[in-house]
Amino acid sequence: MSSAGPGAAGRSGPSPEQIRAAAEVAGDHRVSRPGAEPDLPPAGAEHGRAAARPTQEFWSALYQRRTTRKFDSSRPVPREVVLELLDAALIAPTSCNLQMWDFVVVDDPDQREQLGRLSLQVLSTPVSIFVAYGKEYSEEGHANVQSAAAALQNMSLAAHVLGMGSFWINQLGPRDQVGAILGLPPDREVVAGLAIGWPEVYPTKVPRRRPFEHVVHWNHFGGQPIPSSPLPADWTLALIRDYQQARVLNGNRYNKSRPWELVAALAAADSLVPPDESSKPGDDAPRWLDVLPVHGLFTGEMSKRHRSHRWAVLELSADVAAFAAKRCPSYVAAVPLVWEPEQSGGREPSRDAHLARAAASLPEGAYHIMTCLYRLESLPPADRPRLLATLKRMLAPDGRLLLRVTSARSFHRLASWMHARRGGPGGVEYVLAPDPNLGPYEAMAPADVERLLSEAGFVVSERRREDVLPAADEIAFRTRNMGAAKGALVRAAVGAARALASLPGMGAFARTRTWVLRRG
Ligand SMILES: Cc1cc2nc3c(=O)[nH]c(=O)nc-3n(C[C@H](O)[C@H](O)[C@H](O)COP(=O)(O)O)c2cc1C
Repeated sequence: MSSAGPGAAGRSGPSPEQIRAAAEVAGDHRVSRPGAEPDLPPAGAEHGRAAARPTQEFWSALYQRRTTRKFDSSRPVPREVVLELLDAALIAPTSCNLQMWDFVVVDDPDQREQLGRLSLQVLSTPVSIFVAYGKEYSEEGHANVQSAAAALQNMSLAAHVLGMGSFWINQLGPRDQVGAILGLPPDREVVAGLAIGWPEVYPTKVPRRRPFEHVVHWNHFGGQPIPSSPLPADWTLALIRDYQQARVLNGNRYNKSRPWELVAALAAADSLVPPDESSKPGDDAPRWLDVLPVHGLFTGEMSKRHRSHRWAVLELSADVAAFAAKRCPSYVAAVPLVWEPEQSGGREPSRDAHLARAAASLPEGAYHIMTCLYRLESLPPADRPRLLATLKRMLAPDGRLLLRVTSARSFHRLASWMHARRGGPGGVEYVLAPDPNLGPYEAMAPADVERLLSEAGFVVSERRREDVLPAADEIAFRTRNMGAAKGALVRAAVGAARALASLPGMGAFARTRTWVLRRG
């Protein structure tokens, strides 16, 4: 039966013979078939699939299954393959074996298009399977959702074994509207969808998992919990490091930055030094340090425009420093540096971590340019003076540090409130920071920044105030999920307020505050 395994099937999908062979193995143990009486699976593992297939196949399927997001949309998915997945779903466990679930397979282009208006993700594949569960059943401990999730996971594993790709879609848009399009009764909760198709590219890279010892506890929880609060004061530096390590290293969320954020970051960099995209840094070229860039998206773009500098990044862990440094083009050869804390958490550090650690001693007075974009406010308050003191030590005598901070005295507060009220994605990872998913984040009062800078002994050579109101593309982005009328209203209100924003004194309400600092 190994011929139906992922290796034999190849990533272009199984042949009809392979599908038939897989179906034969399922054969006697099938729970249901359209038009057939459901038959009970025989008791005992010796009758199950595990007996029919080499166990290795189970383990390789388990470890090789990957969320696929690039599909060959020209290849149809035959219904017989979909039936295989549904059989795998129906043998999943449910709370009290109630099986109050429904599976709606969407392969009709019109249905797809309607659902695609609520979530573009549905359009990625020709077929999606939506799993709904009775809302009023198995509510204790969300056992209804747990049961549906077991079916979804069974299907995604089965899809993998059949050479297909799948991804779990949670971001479906408003659930009641999805349910209405699918024709589900109101007492059915749409739990999630599984998009399936033939992969154009099957990911082989495993998104990193959080370290084993951070998440596994024997008999009693023995770790430091990652806080559920978006406020930096509720975190420690070590917890921020662990969180960012987990987020950054899984890589998924950091493949693009919002355009207006990138434009602002590049403009900030250009304001310090005119862009130079032609030269290569010599051994005595000035050094540029980007401070706590986390995902390094801005660092990568800034370093491409300022090639005549020797680049380095300073991060909380060697892994994240190496990740950010790799965003810079290879000719820049950015150096990853680590600011405390840097305990390995008991796990084996990666090769990148070793490389970064080798370069981890922080050079004093070495950096001519430093950029710290929206990171002071993401640190626990007690650590902010320590970061500033470290940066001051690392700054060259004639160097400049550009510090950008989101001001709490700005529309940022209103935007955060609206985001929460609108029921936008919740959770700590969705705090309304210039870059979401960085961990805790809280805009700062400009007066508090001034105080910290003066205590650190910096001399302010320039102050800038920008973004009294958000730019047009940011407004378009933030209103994209509002209803048409509400979105138009918000856009009109912001448009009308633009005249006010240019009045004298309004700079006090600018969202973005920039300080250009010298050592003094
Ligand atoms: C409950 C749940 C919801 C998910 N929702 C989405 C989603 O809406 N869109 C998406 O592209 N991936 C979604 N995923 C896929 C995860 O991003 C993916 O499983 C994770 O990054 C790990 O990658 P892997 O599946 O390749 O191991 C979801 C996964 C789970 C378990």
